[in-house]
Amino acid sequence: MYLRHLSLVDYRSYPVAEVELEPGITTFVGLNGQGKTNLVEAAGYLASLSSHRVAQDAPLVRAGAEQAIIRAVVVRDGREQIVELEINPGRANRARLGRAALTRPRDILGALRTVLFAPEDLALVKGDPSERRRFLDELLVARQPRWAGARADYDKILKQRNALLKSSMPLLRKGARRPRRDESQPEDEARASALHTLDVWNTHLAQVGSSLLYARLRLLHDLSPYLAKAYDEVSAGRGAAQASYRSSVHEEVASVIAAGEVPEQADLQQAMHDTFAQVRSQEVERGVTLVGPHRDDLVLQLGDLPAKGYASHGESWSFALGLRLAAFQLLRTDLGTDPVLVLDDVFAELDAGRRARLAAMVEDAEQVLVTAAVADDVPDALTGRTFHVTLGEVSREPA
Ligand SMILES: Nc1ncnc2c1ncn2[C@@H]1O[C@H](COP(=O)(O)OP(=O)(O)OP(=O)(O)O)[C@@H](O)[C@H]1O
Ligand SMILES: [Mg+2]
Repeated sequence: MYLRHLSLVDYRSYPVAEVELEPGITTFVGLNGQGKTNLVEAAGYLASLSSHRVAQDAPLVRAGAEQAIIRAVVVRDGREQIVELEINPGRANRARLGRAALTRPRDILGALRTVLFAPEDLALVKGDPSERRRFLDELLVARQPRWAGARADYDKILKQRNALLKSSMPLLRKGARRPRRDESQPEDEARASALHTLDVWNTHLAQVGSSLLYARLRLLHDLSPYLAKAYDEVSAGRGAAQASYRSSVHEEVASVIAAGEVPEQADLQQAMHDTFAQVRSQEVERGVTLVGPHRDDLVLQLGDLPAKGYASHGESWSFALGLRLAAFQLLRTDLGTDPVLVLDDVFAELDAGRRARLAAMVEDAEQVLVTAAVADDVPDALTGRTFHVTLGEVSREPA
């Protein structure tokens, strides 16, 4: 698929922008801070309902404005669709597909698919586990949008379970034992009832959590060959990139998962349940849920060493890029259409060989949007059509 048109109203630094796009390669060139990333960030937001730079919506709306609008014409297999999103910080966002107003913004997911690589992706390698979990979950949603709902359900249940743990901490701490039926002191009754409620949440969380865990493991299983290949290609065979999943369930199942196997979902559910029983006293002590996909991590390895803490800057960068390129290849194979590939500021950090090899790898993508502060950093093969971005004005380079 490709973007034929992108229009912005009050998005970041743009009061308005209208950009006519074509399939193939397009490069946005301009000095620092002129609005190149803002442009491609908007495309990414429309595709994923999240920004690669901020967790909140407020910074996406131009300072002083109430709302931002991103509108795009997306072409897939020759068919055009208008995809539109209104960003209203503090209130519900609104989405439209063609003429239809959608009840939930997340129903827009899938209309546009992008894979975006940006300097922030270095955090995939160097940052907290939450960065890598987000990578997996966003890819899950890009592959099958229904996971956005499952993901939201999981967060909701987790929040409620944490609230329960917190509120009943003093009560549950006192006795790990379950009161006998004939005990009738009010405190014991309250404790029994809190434990019962906790059990109910355990069941919910294990159910939804295991389906999310299972989906992540399947995804990683499918992604891994592409990752190895992409890293190998970018680095010209200097090192084998691998990713394995570190689960918070008990060791017996966690080690199977770490070895790259994907257990049945029912087994994962059971494992989560059993682990809840094992960590109950710790959870009660700390008032947080210690088991589940929200505690997991993706362990990235380069050869025999962990990437985090060992890989060089360029290697880390290439690893992050490898993850994104792998995501692109996986989606391309899965969806039967190319997602729009966005390379934000990627070339400045790569050596000449890596630049050229990256260019060769993405040349055949249906649409590639490249940003660069220095036009010369972009390999000739990838320059394509060039737009100049100056103070929020996007203009086509005179031919
Ligand atoms: N909500 C907002 N309202 C107004 N201006 C904003 C808003 N958010 C960001 N900006 C401005 O947008 C500019 C940054 O734009 P952007 O990140 O697209 O730059 P860039 O061209 O990618 O630069 P670089 O080459 O440094 O990556 C900054 O000057 C910033 O002040
Ligand atoms: Mg930028």
